[in-house]
Amino acid sequence: MTSQKIRKAVFPAAGMGTRFLPATKATPKEMLCLVDKPLIQYGVEEAVAAGCTEIILISSRGKTTMEDHFDANPELEASLAAKNKTALLEIARSVSKLAKVVVTRQPEPLGLGHAVLMAKEIVGNEPFAVLLPDDIVDAEVPCMKQMVDAFEEVGCSILGSEVVEGDAISAYGCLDCTADPLNPRLLNVKNMVEKPKPGTQPSQNAIIGRYILTPRIFEMIEAITPGAGGELQLTDAIKALLLHEKVYGYSYVGKRHDAGDKQGFLRATVELGLKHPILGQSFRSWLKSQSF
Ligand code: UTP
Repeated sequence: MTSQKIRKAVFPAAGMGTRFLPATKATPKEMLCLVDKPLIQYGVEEAVAAGCTEIILISSRGKTTMEDHFDANPELEASLAAKNKTALLEIARSVSKLAKVVVTRQPEPLGLGHAVLMAKEIVGNEPFAVLLPDDIVDAEVPCMKQMVDAFEEVGCSILGSEVVEGDAISAYGCLDCTADPLNPRLLNVKNMVEKPKPGTQPSQNAIIGRYILTPRIFEMIEAITPGAGGELQLTDAIKALLLHEKVYGYSYVGKRHDAGDKQGFLRATVELGLKHPILGQSFRSWLKSQSF
């Protein structure tokens, strides 16, 4: 158990995004625009709202637009200032002021565990958050903030979790767990099964793309061998961590969209479009007026 604060958030973003071809052939999946922001910005805003001050992007070749997005753009800012477009200027500036952004690269997409390992030196010896940018979580209290609050209670690794009905659980990492008697949102994890065959799942509690991990995870990733798909799997490393430390699941309150999938992205576009503070109302009226 540790009482250290969660200051750093790792964003694995070096994958190939094959489910979203052809859009992701030359454009990073993480830069696909959901309503008016790239996917990665939703995650970064969530991490900042949870108290993180340092964002660690795990990038790869051809993905420099991601880091440019969080950098200042003096030419654009000067042009907007000259035209007195103050609201737009504020929008452009605010993105680069969100947090300190550090970029490191994963030379080859050797798996999520390997991507997280790339952050080892930058994270150092402190617990940290991991957010998968294609999981967009719409929640009143940002999902990572809920998890950081829980971490402050328990001081152990925490895996974001949600109940997935029926055989759909077979697409996820699944927790073998029991609800904690003191806080039913916390799940005592006994074991984990990656993509269980239908009917063999130990529970309906799936792992989503939100994690708080203790730094011992790096040792575990270094010790595991490639698993499913020849990749270094983060779930295998967390299973190894379970042998040394307590790990909790956390049933967050909110709604997740798998925006790395075309259907999930479309649904997220409609739902977040309807909730958008400026566009929402007119988008709703337009949708109602259509006879699809
Ligand atoms: P995904 O499996 O959703 O992303 O990994 P992917 O591999 O890019 O996409 P598909 O399945 O081919 O469509 C979740 C996150 O982990 C990152 C991805 O960039 C994504 O944000 N990732 C995955 C890495 O950074 N490195 C890897 O080796 C694998």
